[in-house]
Amino acid sequence: MKLAFAGAGFVGIVYGAMMAKKGNSVTIYDIDENKISALNDFCEGKKNSLPIHEEGLPTILEQAYKEGLLRFTTDSKQAISDAEVIFLTVGTPSDAQGRADVRYVNAAAHTIGKVMKEDAKYKLIVTKSTVPVGTAKRLEEIIGTYAVGKFDVASNPETLAEGKAVKDAEEPQRIIVGTESERARRILSDLYAPFFFPGEKGICFMSPESAELTKYACNTYLASQVVLTNMFANLAKRYGANWREILEAIGADPRIGKFVHPGLGFGGSCFKKDVSALCQMMKDTGAVREDYEVLERIIAQNEAQKHALNPLLKQVYGESLDGQTLAVWGLAFKKDTNDVRDAASLRVIPDLLQMGAHVRAHDPKAAKEFLKEIGAMDVDMANLEICKEKYAATEGADGLLIITEWITYRQPDFAELREKMRRRIIFDAKDLMNYQKMQEETDFSYYAIGRPDIVR
Ligand code: UDX
Repeated sequence: MKLAFAGAGFVGIVYGAMMAKKGNSVTIYDIDENKISALNDFCEGKKNSLPIHEEGLPTILEQAYKEGLLRFTTDSKQAISDAEVIFLTVGTPSDAQGRADVRYVNAAAHTIGKVMKEDAKYKLIVTKSTVPVGTAKRLEEIIGTYAVGKFDVASNPETLAEGKAVKDAEEPQRIIVGTESERARRILSDLYAPFFFPGEKGICFMSPESAELTKYACNTYLASQVVLTNMFANLAKRYGANWREILEAIGADPRIGKFVHPGLGFGGSCFKKDVSALCQMMKDTGAVREDYEVLERIIAQNEAQKHALNPLLKQVYGESLDGQTLAVWGLAFKKDTNDVRDAASLRVIPDLLQMGAHVRAHDPKAAKEFLKEIGAMDVDMANLEICKEKYAATEGADGLLIITEWITYRQPDFAELREKMRRRIIFDAKDLMNYQKMQEETDFSYYAIGRPDIVR
């Protein structure tokens, strides 16, 4: 099938590449020339200019490009005109009130409409971006003001988790499709057929409004689980209980789910944005305060959790960190990605600097992105050093803070740490270390979210 993706961001690139891998002819278009030439340069082997770090993606892109199934262009008109199905994968960032800003989605619909004014061929327009309920209907109206031929608009929200997006795209747990049109239903059934075994029921069909709401519901359930996990982990610590022991029992109940790993709250591009947008939708539709306040509390608890190491730091070093050198391992919002959007590092490191510490930080993939992001904040970075190697970051350190769960941080060489660090203290925000080993085989003090302190 001939497909176009409007928007060469994370979602457009990953789904576009995957659809090309399944044999479709895919054009990804974007107004940003730099993005498009970076992608073309990468696929042509000219430069290592892929903007996102995602396991398995480079190979799929290169292969599909070589086979002529994948193109990147700024020529939206041609891409739209050639395509039978157009996926909208543009961003929907939060506006000042926390509503999803749909200006890029609207602009994409106008561009598509203008092409359809001169071309009567049927097209299916599919929203993959996370959009407020009612968007599919509204886009139908926008495109309808131009189109001379038949068309449908369907909702097909993306469900990619960063770091494992290729796997999520290739082996989806389910595909959500919202449409009232039989023709759209058939096209999307065909398109997604190669993702499931014959006869396997993989697509949940529903109305566009239900599909749009489903995406918000999924992310809100997951976000609220992270919040509950952290709330209990904090409580467990206060009682001297160990959340790791508790979560084994909790996780054994399939009704409770899987987001049971404590940390410094959720980050990334979706949860906060989607919970905020849902909260605004609730207010806009006249929900009672008791309903939307639940969402406000999720956001507030999560924000507070990003500072959850501060009391532990104060317990160890006192109110001021003057004269202390602290190593930080992990800047990305989670492992296996170079994304730092809403990452805990953007709260933890400014806190440390503000308390007077000298900070030596490391991340396997996200250092450049982190520097760009923190550079745009009002933070004095004179006492911040980014180190290329993880042990180099611990040189002369009075403590090591682990805040992203990269596998490389999981089993550190304690002999090397002992040699490099000035004081043997670890703050583990991601429950990474083996607690028993920390207790029995090392002489480090160990402070972790959700576990009793080991003080030496
Ligand atoms: C999420 C959804 O999972 C995905 O379906 C949606 O399409 C986009 O948003 P993503 O933000 O990439 O994906 O990552 P996810 O793995 O869901 O984690 C979100 C945040 O929650 C991360 O900061 C992660 O560290 C945190 N988290 C997750 C926890 O703190 N504990 C957990 O047990 C799980």
